[in-house]
Amino acid sequence: MILKNAKFYLGGHIAEKDIKIEGGKISAFGHFSGEGIDAKGLFALPGLIDPHVHLRDPGLTHKEDFCSGTRAALCGGFTTVLDMPNTKPSTTTLAALKEKRKIAAQKAVCDYGIHFGATKENFAEVKAAKSPTLKLYMGKSTGEVLVDDIASIWKHFDGFPHEKPLLLHAEDEETLNSLEKLGIKGRATIAEKIAVEKARLIAAQVNRLVYFAHLSTAESIHMAKLWEKSLVEVSPHHLFLSSDKDGKRLKEFYRVNPPLRSEAERRRLWGSLYEIDTIGSDHAPHTPEEKKKGAAGFPGLETSLSLFLDAHNKGLLALPWIIFRMAENPARIFNLHSKGRIGIGYDADITLVDLKKEWKVSADDFQSKCGWTPYEGMKLRGKVKKVLFRGVLAVEDGAVLAETKGREVLL
Ligand code: DOR
Ligand code: ZN
Repeated sequence: MILKNAKFYLGGHIAEKDIKIEGGKISAFGHFSGEGIDAKGLFALPGLIDPHVHLRDPGLTHKEDFCSGTRAALCGGFTTVLDMPNTKPSTTTLAALKEKRKIAAQKAVCDYGIHFGATKENFAEVKAAKSPTLKLYMGKSTGEVLVDDIASIWKHFDGFPHEKPLLLHAEDEETLNSLEKLGIKGRATIAEKIAVEKARLIAAQVNRLVYFAHLSTAESIHMAKLWEKSLVEVSPHHLFLSSDKDGKRLKEFYRVNPPLRSEAERRRLWGSLYEIDTIGSDHAPHTPEEKKKGAAGFPGLETSLSLFLDAHNKGLLALPWIIFRMAENPARIFNLHSKGRIGIGYDADITLVDLKKEWKVSADDFQSKCGWTPYEGMKLRGKVKKVLFRGVLAVEDGAVLAETKGREVLL
């Protein structure tokens, strides 16, 4: 198969070449004759990797499942997603991991990984699972996964192999509870900062890698980075939405953990762009009925890339910034050796975007089961046009074309 006239970054420069694909892998660049898919006028990005999604399977499949969630991923330009453990049951036992693996193998249409979860007791299970990653919630959010005492946090920090990514939901439970008792609403930024301080100090003490999921303020990021083995993920909603600007509009759809911050905080976050290691959508679908009852979380897989392309079109970001944080660096951090680059020998996961295409966000056009988006009605410039997954044209113009089969790649 040949992808014709593709424009893409090759060795730091923009090249315009054909990409030859054999056996689902990129095999050569050049100018080739023969049949192919035309990419004229489109920009080719490496298939994106989202390190932070909640596919809700098993147990919460009325919100999403491995099929709908990975279809949403492909349509959003992601060819690999890493799933979070706060499902039902939580992925905190070997049995639950086995069950999730079976479901994913049957339903996933793009590649995936499964994050194992920490509890206050499951030290032996974590060891036995030999999981490549571990997610630990320092503050309560959706689901039954909370490790909020220093002793248990310390034991996981020390017990889990130090070079493997330990992912943190960094909001401090005791601070959250105290703030609530004091009548201070809205999970204030101080809860995040205290959690970050605890985590980075313990990480430094035991000398381990730590991955801070969805940090929402410039100061937290700065504090995290005081430890040299900290990695920082930021989610699109904290960069593009704020409590001041979007609170009223979102009404009952407003809640997310960590919450949207003030417009001043959001602007400061843009000042931390070069301290951000990865973008994680934190795709966390809930039904509108659940949102009305207070469920926290936003869907994000189908809007994430376009928000950044739109920012690029406004002169706020360079394309390599996006490619690095949404493909190359997640591949490096999570050891996805055949992913994250358009290079010879890599999987032929390629997201073709029309950089200039203007479109209006509507959840009606999306694959996610949840049926709503916090960006409804927003006009964005830059859109996914086609997605190649392991060399197969899987998506075109928002429609899933091929019944592709995903594989577990986080091993
Ligand atoms: O808003 C959130 N929703 N934050 C989380 O940490 C979890 C997520 C979910 O799973 O719903
Ligand atoms: Zn999350």
